Amino acid sequence: MSPLSTSRPGVRPSEFHFRCISCGDLKRTASQDFRCAQCGDLLEISYPTWKDSAPSAGSLKSTWRERRLSSKAVDQSGVWRFRDLLPALDDENQAVTLREGNTPLYELPQCARISGVPRLFAKHQGMNPTGSFKDTGMTVAATFARRAGFEWVACASTGNTSASMAAYAARGGMRSLVLVPEGKISWSKLSQALDYGAVTCQLRTDFDGCLKLLQELVRRAPVYQLNSINPFRLEGQKTLAIELLEQLDWEGPDHIIVPGGNLGNSSAIGKALLELHELGFIKRLPKLSVIQAEGANALVRTLREAGGKRLINVAAETRATAIRIGNPASWKKAVHVLETTGGACEQVTEAEIAQAKAEIGAEGIGCEPASAVTLAGLKRLVKQGFVKSNESVVLVLTGNLLKDPDFTIDFHRGELFPGVEALSKLRRPPVVLDATLDAVIRALEKAEKS
Ligand code: F0G
Repeated sequence: MSPLSTSRPGVRPSEFHFRCISCGDLKRTASQDFRCAQCGDLLEISYPTWKDSAPSAGSLKSTWRERRLSSKAVDQSGVWRFRDLLPALDDENQAVTLREGNTPLYELPQCARISGVPRLFAKHQGMNPTGSFKDTGMTVAATFARRAGFEWVACASTGNTSASMAAYAARGGMRSLVLVPEGKISWSKLSQALDYGAVTCQLRTDFDGCLKLLQELVRRAPVYQLNSINPFRLEGQKTLAIELLEQLDWEGPDHIIVPGGNLGNSSAIGKALLELHELGFIKRLPKLSVIQAEGANALVRTLREAGGKRLINVAAETRATAIRIGNPASWKKAVHVLETTGGACEQVTEAEIAQAKAEIGAEGIGCEPASAVTLAGLKRLVKQGFVKSNESVVLVLTGNLLKDPDFTIDFHRGELFPGVEALSKLRRPPVVLDATLDAVIRALEKAEKS
C-alpha cells in the first residue's frame, strides 16, 4: 500500500506525527486505510514538538483574536483561525475552506427550565456552510487530500458527511464518491451530495456495511477516505471546543453533551479538551458526555456490559438516521475521553428524541433529530444526579433543522408516536382553511385558547 506522504511541499513533517491509539507506534506517514501498520488500530495525530516548545496559551489567545479582523480566507475560517493547534501547512492559501466554524453559542432558557439546570447553552454546529459539524473536519481533511495529490475522495455516510465531503471536494477541484445506505438517509442530505457533484451510490446495506466496503475500496483504488477514521477530520473537529471555550472567555462549562454515532466527534472534542488543558488554556476539564439513541446504543452497551474493553456491536435502528450506526469505528477513542474527562454515556428513546427536538425548536433554534438526543440525555443525567442542579451545560447541536424535514413534518402532523401524551402539546400541525378572513380569525382564536 502506498504511503500518504506528509513530507510533500506544503506540509512540515516535523510538526505532527501519526500515533497509534493502541500500541503508541509513531510514524511520519500513514497508509490509505489510516490504520497502524503494527497492530491495525486507529491512528491519531500527535504533536511531539509541543513537549519542548509548547505554544504559549496567552499569546495564541491574542493571535486568534487579532485574526478575526483579517480578510484572509484562513483567518475567516473558524477552523484555520486556530491553525496553530492543527497539522501545519506551509502555504496558507492551500486550505480548502468555505469559512466553516464561527458557529453561534445560544442560551436556551426554556430548555434549561425543562431539564432543571440554571444555564444551558447550545453550540449550534448546524450553522456551518453545509448545515452540520462535518464541515469543520472536512476543511482540514480535504486540504490534506489535495496536498497529497489525490483526485478522488470517498466516504460512507448517514448523509451529513457525504454532503460536506461533496462540497469540499468540489471547492478543492477533486471528485467525490459517496456510499450511503439506500432509503436510510434524508432526502435533504442526499440532494446536497447530488448538487455538489458527487458520484452517489445508494447501497443495499446499512451505514456499517457502507463503511466496511469503503475500507476495502481504499486498499484497492487511489481514493482518499474522508470518514472520521481519517485523523485529519478529527483535528478540524477539535476546533469546536477551542471556539466554544473562547466564546466562554476560557471558563469552561461543567458539562459538554454530544450525540454519539460513529464516535468521531466526541473523540475530537475530548482530544481538544485534553490538549487545551495540557497547554494551560483551561484550568478545569469540562465533563464530556455522549448520548445515543436506544436503538443504536453500541457505546452504552460496550461500557455497561464490557467495561469499555471490547466493542459490542448492535443492529442499529432509529428515526434519528444520522446516528443509525451499530459498529462505531472510534469507540476506543470515545471510551478514552469519557474516562479522562469523567463524562457519562446514556441512551434515550425515540419519543424522548422527538420531544427534545420540538422543545429546542420551540426556542427558535431547531436542529435535526440526532442533535436532539443531547437535550433528552441531559434530562436523564439531571434525574440521575450526574448533572447537578447548579451546573452549567453546553449541548452540541450537530445538524440543522432543515436536514430532516420529513421527521419534523411527521411529528407535527401527529404521525410520529401518536399515542404519547407528553408530545401532543408540542405539536403544531398545519391547518387547511377556506381563504376567508373569518376562517383565519377563528384559527387565531383557537390557538389563543390552546
Ligand atoms: N449528529 C449528526 C447530525 C451526524 O450527522 C452524526 C454523524 C452524528 C451526530 C454523530 O457523530 O459519528 O462523530 O459520533 N454522521 C455521520 C455521517 C456518521 O455520515 O454523516 P459521530
